Amino acid sequence: MTEESTTLQIIPYPHPTLRRPSKPVRKIDESLKQIMLQMFDLMYEAKGVGLAANQIDIPLRFCVVNATGRRGEGEELVLINPVLDRPKGSVAHEEGCLSLPGLYGTVVRPKQVRLSAYDLQGNLIDRVLDGFLARVVQHEVDHLDGVLFIDRMTPEARKEFDPRIEELTVDFESRQRTGSVPPTTSLQNKMLEWEQRYG
Ligand code: CO
Repeated sequence: MTEESTTLQIIPYPHPTLRRPSKPVRKIDESLKQIMLQMFDLMYEAKGVGLAANQIDIPLRFCVVNATGRRGEGEELVLINPVLDRPKGSVAHEEGCLSLPGLYGTVVRPKQVRLSAYDLQGNLIDRVLDGFLARVVQHEVDHLDGVLFIDRMTPEARKEFDPRIEELTVDFESRQRTGSVPPTTSLQNKMLEWEQRYG
């Protein structure tokens, strides 16, 4: 596998890697670190505030976040093997997702959570998150568990998304038919390669 030469791309719903619960990272090398840093470029380009590894077709448990969405502003976080606990409160807010272009909907989430993770240098991050950053990190950790924000919407609100979700599905399937996206078995083999290499 020569992922060094592969251009990183954000994969759209319903790509199967988005539903794969990510494997904790057991090994980090220079190539994986470079990917983590390149994820910020992809995220800023796409005007996102967070990006999970499985959104770039890597089924491993890490994500990047900058709640401002702007390079050079705010705080850039690389979160490796993140775990959330001690949820407190509840707040409703609109969310979108780079893997579900064109969809925005209200999601209720805990207002505050405690985050434990490792950074790029292997230091332990252990802090209580609140506000928008808490929401972004929860959205990204959901991705790593194979969960999308549409799964957390009420069935009624979710129903309004059906036409767009159908559109994304038809588009993905037609790209598989024309060969611009590999068949599902190849996608699954690629996931296994990543898991065997770093998981
Ligand atoms: Co997302």
